[in-house]
Amino acid sequence: MLKYLIICVCIVSFASEPISPIPKTVEYNKAKALLGKKLFYDTLLSKNNTISCVTCHNLRSGGADSRKVSRGVDGRLGNIQAPTVYNARYNFKQFWNGRAANLKEQAEGPLKNPNELGMSPQLIEKRLNASKTYKKLFYQVYHSSRITFNEAIDAIVEFEKALITPNAKFDRYLRGETTLNSDEQEGYRLFKQYGCITCHNGINIGGNSFQEMGTFFSYHTNASYPDRADVLKNKKYHNVFKVPTLRNIALTSPYFHDGSAKTLLKAVKAVSHYNLGIEMPLDDAQKIVAFLKTLTGEKPKIVKNP
Ligand code: HEC
Ligand code: HEC
Repeated sequence: MLKYLIICVCIVSFASEPISPIPKTVEYNKAKALLGKKLFYDTLLSKNNTISCVTCHNLRSGGADSRKVSRGVDGRLGNIQAPTVYNARYNFKQFWNGRAANLKEQAEGPLKNPNELGMSPQLIEKRLNASKTYKKLFYQVYHSSRITFNEAIDAIVEFEKALITPNAKFDRYLRGETTLNSDEQEGYRLFKQYGCITCHNGINIGGNSFQEMGTFFSYHTNASYPDRADVLKNKKYHNVFKVPTLRNIALTSPYFHDGSAKTLLKAVKAVSHYNLGIEMPLDDAQKIVAFLKTLTGEKPKIVKNP
């Protein structure tokens, strides 16, 4: 009886919070995900066999790129900072400008993008079918004698579904398993009080709405990246982006779509200026950073195990 009561209290206690914890485990097809993992790390997926998904999405760190903009095949520069692939399954849309509805649509992007992997579906099928190892592995999973582009995408997406980072200190706090220290606690309170929470909330602390960067003071950048205005062909949405997740944010510097903020403190101060119209006192910003650091989760087993 007591056990039920405790479970009940826990559910009620985090149900009243605007942020919910990442589940400790998620369902996915393990055979497909392991095949997807192999593809994610394989340079065979790039035009000149030099880079793979992991080149720009460092899974040993925060799943993002530590460079301001990524470099694709032949050293070609991209036009935007690579966000994390961890917990991407919880984003309502993919890409900064939300032009992909889901992970499947997203994965086709870098493969075909001449500034990223620079491939075509035909070339991918040709390469995979020429590999004895892949022929065998795909047969075991998909039972087809000829590997298709769609199967490769399907496997990569299944791997991405497994990329969750559970048990962050903050999630354990929400579940009543640990306490926050006074700076972290105060940082969380300020995060809610200043209104960060209006845009960064839910399971991914972001990833569930489009918002303007510069709701108070307009944001200027040299980045030539298509924003929501370009996607929707409507100038009203200038500088509107998908609100990024703040999970594992301590590991994904530099920040913003143009990589303009190097440290978390600078990012917090900048976003307070542009999106809340305030110059946040340093002490408050530091406490918010302390809170943000509790959002670093554990790497999923599929990444930890070789
Ligand atoms: C050359 C670097 C590069 C490579 C290689 C690359 N990506 Fe990315 N990835 C990016 C960049 C840059 C973005 C952001 C692009 C945008 O928003 O328009 C991105 C965005 C994403 C997102 C969306 C995340 C979000 O929050 O919107 C996912 C998921 C993703 N990539 C997965 C992959 C997969 C899977 C592969 C391999 C098939 C891959 N990436 C290869 C640079 C790269
Ligand atoms: C009006 C909605 C809104 C509010 C309020 C808001 N943000 Fe954001 N935040 C965004 C958007 C949109 C971006 C992406 C902007 C860009 O890249 O140009 C962002 C980006 C960030 C980033 C960088 C994330 C990354 O991966 O690069 C951090 C850190 C951040 N916000 C923290 C905060 C904090 C702390 C507060 C409160 C002081 C706050 N935000 C308030 C919408 C908001």
